[in-house]
Amino acid sequence: MSPGERASRSASEERLYDFTRPSIARVWNAATGGKDNLATDRDVLDQLEQTAKQIRTAARAHVQFVTRATRMGAAEYGIRQWLNLGCGLPQHGCETTYDTAIRHHKDTRVLYVDNDPHVMVHGRALLHVSDATDVIEGDAWDVDAVLNHEQAGLLDRSQPIGLIATALAHFLPDEERPASILRRYMAHFPSVYFIFSHARDDLLSSEERATLIADYKPTADIYPRSMDVIRSMFFDGLDLLEPGLVEASVWRPDSAVSLDVGRAHFLAAVATFGPLSSSLAEAP
Ligand SMILES: C[S@@+](CC[C@H](N)C(=O)[O-])C[C@H]1O[C@@H](n2cnc3c(N)ncnc32)[C@H](O)[C@@H]1O
Repeated sequence: MSPGERASRSASEERLYDFTRPSIARVWNAATGGKDNLATDRDVLDQLEQTAKQIRTAARAHVQFVTRATRMGAAEYGIRQWLNLGCGLPQHGCETTYDTAIRHHKDTRVLYVDNDPHVMVHGRALLHVSDATDVIEGDAWDVDAVLNHEQAGLLDRSQPIGLIATALAHFLPDEERPASILRRYMAHFPSVYFIFSHARDDLLSSEERATLIADYKPTADIYPRSMDVIRSMFFDGLDLLEPGLVEASVWRPDSAVSLDVGRAHFLAAVATFGPLSSSLAEAP
């Protein structure tokens, strides 16, 4: 499907008011403990849970990873502007990118992108909270449309960017080259602090993998990948920060308490591209 086709499909009212069809954003909202989802979304989640038993724990741990990684980008790498691709539905009680980053820099700006009309309707109130934030309804894989959008004026191309693409790239098949598209975003900025995650499949048997893909099919096609493939596809040539590509709950955890996510792994990592250094690393 071309970016244009995806964009027109995403904008259709049909999708907004078709309550019989699950959506990626609402299934994820249900998995992470949110309330902005429907019975059809919860049915998909229940089905996924038959195979990936700890999926809710893994999804909640993933939300916390994104917050920790954002905090580190703002606090240690001085990131003041963020582009969050496939941002999802914000949840009451959970921090948005802006909530986390504004604590460190009062001039923080955040541009969110999602193609789900529900994110626009229900999420806009929580995401578009000031002149320093905005939300584009569009296809995150259409770099030109996003960066040429009038709201993209929020971003300063001469400054470093925090690029967030979490739990998104597993919705694009290899032939649509998700990693190359993300590199195209990076090429527009002098340096990048990149927060990324991706569903992992190499802990699953081939039957389990096939079952999960089939159970998710009414929502969307999904392309989980192995740890080795994710590392080489998305991080080749980037500076991967410690601890590298790991299950989200163990990426620089705030607490020593370990979570049981079973084999429902969202692999998570932060990398930098271009000249960007940590204030902590520079400290004497
Ligand atoms: C699994 S959710 C993850 C949400 C958020 N990034 C997070 O990490 O919590 C994936 C999100 O990406 C959005 N999405 C999927 N494909 C997209 C596309 N081509 N363009 C924009 N958004 C997309 C979905 O609507 C959904 O909100």
